[in-house]
Formats: sequence, C-alpha cells, structure tokens
Amino acid sequence: MTIAAPGPLSLVPFVSVEHMMEIVLDIGVERLLSELASYIEADFARWELFDKTPRVAAHSAEGVIELMPTSDGETYGFKYVNGHPKNTREGRQTVTAFGMLAKVSDGYPVLLSEMTILTALRTAATSALAAKYLAPAGSRVMAMIGNGAQCEFQAMAFKALCGIDTVRLYDIDPAATRKAAQNLSGSGLTVVPCGSSEEAVLGAQIITTCTADKQFATILTDNLVGAGVHINAIGGDCPGKTELHSDILLRAGIFVEYTPQTRIEGEIQQLPPDHPVTEFWQVVTGRAEGRRDAAEVTVFDSVGFATEDFSALRYVRDQLLRTGKYAQLDLLADPDDPRDLYGMLLRAGLRAAA
Ligand SMILES: NC(=O)c1ccc[n+]([C@@H]2O[C@H](COP(=O)([O-])OP(=O)(O)OC[C@H]3O[C@@H](n4cnc5c(N)ncnc54)[C@H](O)[C@@H]3O)[C@@H](O)[C@H]2O)c1
Repeated sequence: MTIAAPGPLSLVPFVSVEHMMEIVLDIGVERLLSELASYIEADFARWELFDKTPRVAAHSAEGVIELMPTSDGETYGFKYVNGHPKNTREGRQTVTAFGMLAKVSDGYPVLLSEMTILTALRTAATSALAAKYLAPAGSRVMAMIGNGAQCEFQAMAFKALCGIDTVRLYDIDPAATRKAAQNLSGSGLTVVPCGSSEEAVLGAQIITTCTADKQFATILTDNLVGAGVHINAIGGDCPGKTELHSDILLRAGIFVEYTPQTRIEGEIQQLPPDHPVTEFWQVVTGRAEGRRDAAEVTVFDSVGFATEDFSALRYVRDQLLRTGKYAQLDLLADPDDPRDLYGMLLRAGLRAAA
C-alpha cells in the first residue's frame, strides 16, 4: 500500500548508471565527449561567474572522500567522489561518484545523477580540451601510462577532439594493458601495448599519466620527456599523491584548473608555493598565452575541478527531455501545507494503520 503518493514538487529526475550508459550509447562516445567538451569550455569561458573553493576532502590512510560544490548564480551543483587506489584489489572502483544540480532561487534539486561514468567522461573531455589548446599542432601519438578505469575514456577523447590516431599503452599490471587494448580494438585507434614507460613514450607528442597510487610516485622521469611534449597528468590529484618528477615541472609551462586547489593536490605541491602557473580559463578566454613555441614542454596538472562536474551535469540535464533516459525519484517531501510537515507524517501513519 502507498501511504503517501509523491506530491507535485516531490519528484526529481534521477539518472541511474543504466540510464547513463543508455545515454552514452545513444549519443555515441565520441560525439558525447565532443559535446561535453564544448559545455566544459563554455563554463571555463565564464569562469569568473562561478563560486570557487578547493574541494572539501576527508583523507584516510586508504583514500579520500571529497565534496565538490560550485554555482553560477542560477544553478548550484556538487559532486561526491572518492579515490581509493586499493579498491580494485577488492573488486571495487578506485573512483565512484554521484552528484546533483539545484536551483539557486529556491534550493530545490533539479537533477540527481550517477557520476562514476560521467566523471570518467568529463575528465577525458577536460584533458582533451586542454590538449587542444596546449599540445603541439598535428599531434597524432599519445602514450597512456596507467591503463585502469579512466584509460579508454582518455584515449577516445583525444581521438575525438585532438585527432590522435595511435595510443601506446603501459601499466605495471599487464592485465590492465590487455583489458584496455581489447576495449580499444575496433575504435579506429592504432593500439600499441608496451612493456615500460620508456617504450610507451617513444614517438609520442602527448603523454597521459593516469595511475593510482597514494604516494609520491615517479611515473615519468625528466629524461623521458623530449622537447615539445604535452603532458596530461591526471593521476596526481591528492596531497602526497603525484606522478611527475619535479625536474619536469621546473622546465615546463604549467597549466592548472583552480590554483588554490592544485597547490594542495596537484603535481605542483612539489614546487614552492609561488612557482608560476597559468589557470586554464585564462588560455580559453585569450587572457594568457598557451603553448609558447614548438619546443616548450607543457603540463596540464589536472586534479579535476567542480565547474567541470557542473558542466557535465548541465550537459546531462539537457539530454533528459530529448532521450527520456531518467526516472522520477520521490526525493523531496511535499506536504499540502508547506509548514505542516509533521501533519503529513501523521496522515501517512493513519493511512498505514487503516
Ligand atoms: N584529474 C582528474 O580529474 C581525475 C579524475 C578521475 C580520476 N583521477 C585519478 O586518475 C587516476 C586513475 O584513475 P582510475 O579510475 O583509472 O584508477 P584505476 O585504479 O582503475 O587504474 C589505475 C592504474 O594505474 C596502474 N598503475 C599504478 N601504478 C603504476 C605505475 N607506477 N606505472 C604504471 N601504471 C601504474 C594500476 O595498475 C592501474 O591499472 C587515479 O589516481 C584517480 O584518482 C583524476
């Protein structure tokens, strides 16, 4: 028996993992990544409008749980996300997430969504967008170090947005490389499994590092990075968790999302707090230079910022009416008299007893 039917204001569109997969498959991975990148770019272009704060992180020995809020003044959004590198050994994801959008005017949520798949898509779209501005012109080959959950999304985004035609894969776990190679066969990319980082970077104009380890790791040493290479460093995204040797950073042009957050979490935590960096929104809006010349090493020191999730949720929301891929969730209490919340409970109790 239903003891209280949802009121007209109770229901919030909810995008489950199943619906998210249907949306992605319906639109197509590459088209979706390109469209998502244009939403992310549009929000970087209006960067100054957003409320910005370093994400709120709860660290433990095993990992981190983070809340990532932002608002453009009309819409508020946040994401819950974790990062637990040990999880894959127990059959769980390193990163899982969900998030929501709400109206600033009345605080009512307008979307609740899974964001594990969406985070992989938005991270890949953001990486490829940054590379469109920063990587050397005509880049065709990307090395991918770390072949876990994010890997294929990154590869597909760089194919769709930057024209990458070859990916050279390396992971300390050969099973991860086999998995990624298998998933990318038939993607149109030439896939080259490699036995070391040294081998993976051969001939690559772009190097993506997306490993997971809760420590100061050295995935890339200075001697592996030739002139003109663009590095897309996404795995170093927590205090005490980095991937690049600091010598690379010292000779590179460094681009970040939101400096106060990246100083805490990014590769640049290894550098003095006044080491010069450029925020990516400034490049998007033409206020700062991107790559200076063909020989410059550029680093996108990505940690993932709240506006990117906001853009991704905005994109998903715009797909709902078109695709119908969502359920209505009875999320908000909606008493007939807004001040009679207790009465709503009492009446439900009477109905349950009847
Ligand atoms: N910057 C962002 O916006 C963003 C977004 C999502 C995830 N991430 C980060 O990206 C990283 C990858 O995420 P994931 O979900 O793919 O994790 P995952 O655990 O699924 O995969 C990580 C892979 O890295 C490999 N690896 C670990 N150490 C290595 C080393 N020294 N050399 C080569 N490979 C190594 C592991 O074997 C594993 O296959 C995580 O650190 C995560 O926190 C960043």
